[in-house]
Amino acid sequence: MKLFSSVHDVQNIDSLVADALALKKNPYSYQHLGKNKTLGLIFMNPSLRTRISTQKAALNLGMQVIVMNLDKEGWALETNDGVIMNGTTVEHIREAAGVLGQYCDIIGFRAFPSLQNREEDYSENIFNKFVTYCKVPVISLESATRHPLQSLADLITIKEVWAIKNPALAKKIKPKVVLTWAPHVKPLPQAVANSFAEWMCKADVEFTITHPLGYELSPEFTSNATVKHNQTEALKNADFVYVKNWSSYTNYGKIQSDGMGWMMDNQKLKLTNNAGIMHCLPVRRGLELADEILDGQNSLVLNQANNRTWAAQAVLKNMLSL
Ligand code: CP
Repeated sequence: MKLFSSVHDVQNIDSLVADALALKKNPYSYQHLGKNKTLGLIFMNPSLRTRISTQKAALNLGMQVIVMNLDKEGWALETNDGVIMNGTTVEHIREAAGVLGQYCDIIGFRAFPSLQNREEDYSENIFNKFVTYCKVPVISLESATRHPLQSLADLITIKEVWAIKNPALAKKIKPKVVLTWAPHVKPLPQAVANSFAEWMCKADVEFTITHPLGYELSPEFTSNATVKHNQTEALKNADFVYVKNWSSYTNYGKIQSDGMGWMMDNQKLKLTNNAGIMHCLPVRRGLELADEILDGQNSLVLNQANNRTWAAQAVLKNMLSL
């Protein structure tokens, strides 16, 4: 794998998950692979989990890691081609990415969408340019439309928990997984929801998405998912509930409603099959998810965050083995 930007870059999802779980048991078994190799982690936006878990994954593999918050610590970046740079931008992405590619063997890159222009965001203009000009293997640390390391960690978590809950039948019975929209005060990208949907549509699960009208995701990510606008109906007998806010795709980047009544709480948990409750974090307590859920037995949010390391390590191991 020279590029990890979506589920489509993965040849065999089951084997990548198995690799991650094996690394979780033996984190240092491939230290030789990363000897004298450098990972660059380049952020255009804030991060806690992605930054630290990917760094830890690389260190476990014996790599050296350089981290840069390019948006704050680098020169103001120009991403458009053919412009006369007589304004505020100082360095073009062609040179910035080209230079970084000379210092690193693999680069992780994060660039969120503007949420102003759907066509531009969904063309993945900045991420794709970075990949083109750095000329080394690239891992997405979350792009305008997807967050594949998060989705891989989410799938690992579901497989792991499902196997513990159903030791004899885990491979025979598909879990019911529900992605539910949640309220938020700020317009957020669709990336986590898009990506989770895309991975679930390829995984061995029964997948349902529920959201208020106006929050339909782009059909390119939701191919064989069941979509319901009635949250109560959707949550019935769920084995896993993934809670996440996203802004409108159709009325691009806008908040359509205050989302009253959509927060996941213990009353709604009763509708489910004692579901594991998931969220990628950071989470707004009392808005997206009730405290009682986050502090309760069913919360899997820390399991997901833990699995971010093994997801990143499985992807890095694959790239280092080329
Ligand atoms: N879930 C996630 O990507 O967290 P960070 O934005 O903190 O990296």
